[in-house]
Amino acid sequence: MDESRAVRDADAFLAELDILLQEALARIGEGAKVPPGPQIGVKELLVVALKNEIEASEEAAMWLVGERDPELKLGLARQCGDEAKHYRLIAERLRELGVDLSGHDPLAGGHSPMFRYLKSLETPAERIAAGPFAREALAQVRNEVFAEFCEAKGDQATARLYRDIVGPDEVFHHELGRRMLRRYAVTSEDQDRARRAVARTLQIAEELQEMQRLKQGISSAPGC
Ligand SMILES: [Fe+2]
Ligand SMILES: [Fe+2]
Repeated sequence: MDESRAVRDADAFLAELDILLQEALARIGEGAKVPPGPQIGVKELLVVALKNEIEASEEAAMWLVGERDPELKLGLARQCGDEAKHYRLIAERLRELGVDLSGHDPLAGGHSPMFRYLKSLETPAERIAAGPFAREALAQVRNEVFAEFCEAKGDQATARLYRDIVGPDEVFHHELGRRMLRRYAVTSEDQDRARRAVARTLQIAEELQEMQRLKQGISSAPGC
């Protein structure tokens, strides 16, 4: 049997995905620590975060509708609500910082390439792998870098929002992904799809991070 097609047991499979994830997150985390351009501060990054949160909420919403498994459906429903809550809290924080968001449409520029990729995924295994498992792990790394950036700028309130409220939610979303992969990435075909989905999600994240840095001077934006 072709080695890549052999079914791994759940522990071995997750250990393999974790290696893939940790390697990319270490690189992305390092890239995220590059200081942003002089025109970019906490407010500008929070505005970018609004779009990430809206897209994460939509992602969970579009997937939950097609699911029958109550644990997965309700897990995605919770994620959908959490991301909407993050949006609201970030918007409130922006208002406190003096940003007028009336008429602001976070999707005015269209959905991101990350969202379009996630939307193209068809099976629960690859959706769970790309969304809750990989993207939420990515969010944890970026949010931690952002919280440190806020503290360095003397903005303790925004740092606390990320550390005390947003952060624990993203951990929950990632753990949902980890739990559900044990249930849905069982056959060799589903494991292959899940593995490819994690790799592609991380690759898109790296490409987008590089593009944002070159175009806007943003080395890392928080979210989702
Ligand atoms: Fe999340
Ligand atoms: Fe979020």
